[in-house]
Amino acid sequence: MILRMKKVRLGYKEIEKLWREKLSGYVKHKIAGYKLAYCPLSTREEEQVFIKIINTLLDPSLVYSGPHRLKQWEKGWGQNLTRLRKEKTADAVFPRYHGKYPVNRLDQKFIRAASPNYERNMLYVILDYVFDKYLRKSENIYEFGCGTGHNLLRAREVNPSANLFGLDWAKSSQRIIKQMADAHLVKNIKGYNFDFFKPNKKIKLAAHSAIYTAAALEQVGIKYKAFVSYLLQNQPALCLHVEPIAELLNEDRLIDNLSIKYFRKRNYLEGFLDYLRELEKAKKIKIIEAKRTRIGSQFIEGYSIIIWKPLPLKKKPL
Ligand SMILES: C[S@@+](CC[C@H](N)C(=O)[O-])C[C@H]1O[C@@H](n2cnc3c(N)ncnc32)[C@H](O)[C@@H]1O
Repeated sequence: MILRMKKVRLGYKEIEKLWREKLSGYVKHKIAGYKLAYCPLSTREEEQVFIKIINTLLDPSLVYSGPHRLKQWEKGWGQNLTRLRKEKTADAVFPRYHGKYPVNRLDQKFIRAASPNYERNMLYVILDYVFDKYLRKSENIYEFGCGTGHNLLRAREVNPSANLFGLDWAKSSQRIIKQMADAHLVKNIKGYNFDFFKPNKKIKLAAHSAIYTAAALEQVGIKYKAFVSYLLQNQPALCLHVEPIAELLNEDRLIDNLSIKYFRKRNYLEGFLDYLRELEKAKKIKIIEAKRTRIGSQFIEGYSIIIWKPLPLKKKPL
């Protein structure tokens, strides 16, 4: 018999405790609006989740990320585009993969979502926090691997005047962004085609820019150096990432250990923070913040935060 546990409300005080940090009025207000709630799992239910994850890790047919996945992303975002053309509302640009499984991670435990759009809203709590803290004064905001561009709508909320740019290797992403602009869902936004594996050097970042990635750089595995080099050349004022970062998890805890194994199995980002730390030692960048959020989905804690900035390039001697 599976015992159903009582619903727990998740407010700003719980998130402050989770992150050991006081939140701004803006983020508190956002959290209240999401009306977050979850149910803890019984030991029996938790055991079922572990079994499911282990079976998935042992499944040889699990899809993994890489250059061969472009077609699937085109197709997925193409479905959002069709919906957007019909409905012309911001709802049409929400990715359909959030909330695929009712079980999520919170503070190194599995829980069952008990409020609408729980998974997406938990990601938004993280983005609201990061955007509020770092993007209010940026004149230009670029999201790399932006998909439908729905995160840029969050960025717009903290910064009404910045020029927004959404970049992605899928052409359907640029079509969605154009359609959103044409339907007046968001102003002052442009989309560009951009591939992390082969950054287009002709796309130059404007002065006073901040860039971010959210669950997108994860898709490149160990091939992030070309993108970092592109950023070092372009010298944005700030780089923000909300991505799966194994270096910040605790391999000695089973739940984290399985998350790291899942990152590897799916060929997600690997060694990125260690690489940034090397660049910091070489005085090429400064890391401002690197922390796990203790928020995640069934298979991974994939939303760690890294904030860094390039240091001015040394001039080559004449
Ligand atoms: C999980 S989705 C996240 C999209 C968006 N950041 C969000 O939070 O909804 C991953 C995104 O990365 C993009 N992507 C994957 N590989 C890429 C590459 N090599 N260059 C640029 N974008 C890529 C995909 O097209 C997709 O839009």
